Amino acid sequence: MKIYMETYGCQMNVSDSGKITHLFAEQGYSLTETSSDADLIVINTCSVREKPELKIFSALGRYIPLKRQRPELVIAVGGCVAQQWGDKLLKRCPGLDIVFGTHQLDSLPDLVAKVRQSRRAVSVTEFLKCPGGLEVMAIPAAGTVSAMVTIMQGCDNFCSYCIVPYVRGREYSRPSAAIIEEVGKLAQAGIKEVMLLGQNVNSYGLQEKNEISFAELLALVHDISGIERIRFTTSHPKDMSDALISAFAELPKLSPYLHLPFQAGSDTVLSRMGRGYTAADYLEKVEKLRRAVPMIALTTDIIVGFPGESEADFQKTLDMLEKVRYDQIYSFKYSIRPGTRAAGFEDLVADEEKRERLARCQGFQDEISQEILAAQVGSVSEVLVSGPSKRGAGEWSGRTGENRIVNFPAPAGIQVGDLRRVKIVTALKHSLKGEVIT
Ligand code: 5AD
Ligand code: SF4
Repeated sequence: MKIYMETYGCQMNVSDSGKITHLFAEQGYSLTETSSDADLIVINTCSVREKPELKIFSALGRYIPLKRQRPELVIAVGGCVAQQWGDKLLKRCPGLDIVFGTHQLDSLPDLVAKVRQSRRAVSVTEFLKCPGGLEVMAIPAAGTVSAMVTIMQGCDNFCSYCIVPYVRGREYSRPSAAIIEEVGKLAQAGIKEVMLLGQNVNSYGLQEKNEISFAELLALVHDISGIERIRFTTSHPKDMSDALISAFAELPKLSPYLHLPFQAGSDTVLSRMGRGYTAADYLEKVEKLRRAVPMIALTTDIIVGFPGESEADFQKTLDMLEKVRYDQIYSFKYSIRPGTRAAGFEDLVADEEKRERLARCQGFQDEISQEILAAQVGSVSEVLVSGPSKRGAGEWSGRTGENRIVNFPAPAGIQVGDLRRVKIVTALKHSLKGEVIT
């Protein structure tokens, strides 16, 4: 039997797809790269913005007709769109067999067996106290040095624009003992870098009685031998505690890199977004972080054209870019998410204006990103070697602790997972070129 997986959206979805593949591998399925020879097609969806949400309908338009030649084919849709639509998705897309919610990942093998027997479509999307699937391990592919470990799921923040609390449910943190056990197994399997994942990792443990804090969890992961680097995503500025900031200075394996979404530079917009901080509060955290780790690299998420955002408000977003100097930004035009608080806000920004602000924001950031990369030339960085570069030409590739990509001519004896000192010789548009110091 063959399974074909299609994944949209965030790293959490990528990790969930890895878990699904693992569950079906245990049932004898192998992964196929082509939908046309699959016995099972699973689409893992994202609804955080309108654009990824719409992808599901064109995907189903491609896959459902495959059933004419292969009536035994089973098609399942999971993830955030599945959670939001539930059985309405079955009605809208005849031929779709399974809709499974964000808490039902581990039920998918049973649902597939049921559908094979009954040939009746099913939808299961209720929220559970403890989301199913969190304890399923995503087995990293052979030859990879990094692995993702989900430590929490859901979000209690209810930012006014965001669909996540409605489709991932309330915050739930996995028991720290289970996380430590999983990271230990990964280290034994040769993994050198772990990425701790969740919608709001820095509020880890706050909702569970007797659980440790995120900073304490990092210290425990740090003690696991074999793990050389720790990263985490994504964080909320209001939960950047002093203890967590100190962890960056105290734990050498914690990479000097942080994704810290600020979303908007104007306090009026931030307040209507319900973010719980001002631009000054955010900048104060950045200052503390840079005091703890002067070279820390920062990235962020930005929404442009939130309802009521004036040109002067938008300028404050550009001011933030100038003040913080991010390595990279992920910027999006605001899109209405039905059911969220902001869906009822007036004073919408015209699409043309949003597009123009997005282009200005990205153009401004491109210059900063370029300057940051150029400033690395001549420096020496420790690079975690990930393997031959996609660009070929005998080059290998890796990342610095700051998460910058470095390509370099491969010296004899180099191996995936090595930590090598590399002298940076050239800055390209999105990456660096270097030479390994032997
Ligand atoms: N419109 C545009 N961008 C959004 N994001 C979340 N919700 C919306 C929305 N309604 C962005 C935020 C978040 C990232 C994952 O997606 O910047 O941090
Ligand atoms: Fe959405 Fe806000 Fe939660 Fe992030 S913190 S997932 S933006 S509600």
